[in-house]
Amino acid sequence: MQTEHKIIIGNSQKMPELSDSTVHLMVTSPPYPMIKMWDNLFARMDSKIAQLWQELKADRREETVTRIYQSMHASLAKVWREAYRALIDGGIACINIGDATRTVNGRFRLFANHSKIIEHCERLGFTTLPYALWKKPTTKPKYKGKGAFLGSGFLPPNAYVTLDCEFILIFRKGELRKFAPRDQRRYDSAFAKKERNEWFSQIWSLAGTRQTHSQIERRIAAFPEEIVNRLIRMFSVKGDTVLDPFLGSGTTIKVAMQNERNSVGYETDESLLPLIKKKTASKPTACRLSIIKREN
Ligand SMILES: C[S@@+](CC[C@H](N)C(=O)[O-])C[C@H]1O[C@@H](n2cnc3c(N)ncnc32)[C@H](O)[C@@H]1O
Repeated sequence: MQTEHKIIIGNSQKMPELSDSTVHLMVTSPPYPMIKMWDNLFARMDSKIAQLWQELKADRREETVTRIYQSMHASLAKVWREAYRALIDGGIACINIGDATRTVNGRFRLFANHSKIIEHCERLGFTTLPYALWKKPTTKPKYKGKGAFLGSGFLPPNAYVTLDCEFILIFRKGELRKFAPRDQRRYDSAFAKKERNEWFSQIWSLAGTRQTHSQIERRIAAFPEEIVNRLIRMFSVKGDTVLDPFLGSGTTIKVAMQNERNSVGYETDESLLPLIKKKTASKPTACRLSIIKREN
């Protein structure tokens, strides 16, 4: 099957390249609010966030921290709004997100990113479906949000539970997707019994699917291909179009190519283009890849 793949170098808060109701599935992992490595990106994306960080230095108010957190989610919600518009009725949106723990303004707290995204997506009209939890293998227990448990690691009550799972949030636009009776594309896209039993259970530990990531992929927190593979196989059929508005290293396009789905990915950081090209280079012959650079 011939498939089309587009890399768009541009901001996905606006996706004019996508007509309404043309995307069947979104699979993505955004920058995580309140995780330090993404602070600068959020500040560049929205000058109000940069200004709030400056205000916090002066006012030291807890309310300012909350406003920063909320503004970061408001910035992501612009992308969720566009994705909602582009999805077909019955289309699915999968968002990989981790919560953040952080000491800001002298106070340690949890920023429950997954709940904020659910709030925003429901406000846009999405229906929240049961989610999966990706159990990460490497995280070590932490003491008071710092390094590993130290001397008093066995004494209650001042230690914190370690966040060693990330969320794979799953939303649907509108009602269940409809197909003509015996539509062959569904049968051609079926999963095996073992796959179904594993993929539709809630904890994904991805044992045995470890992959090595380059330094840049680690810097941008690329997700494992297996996560994308499962989501594409679970929630789309061959010939569908998959969107990733936070493309990063190009994982979603690579896996869409392997699964005979069309794909569109947005990325603001043009310096990732060589990596995306490399990752998508060994494409099946029936895949056509184009790159569009926006003017702004
Ligand atoms: C967590 S990374 C995605 C990693 C990706 N899943 C992978 O496997 O490589 C988020 C990416 O989104 C990009 N980004 C952030 N905001 C964006 C926006 N508004 N439009 C397009 N790309 C954006 C960042 O530059 C970053 O590369």
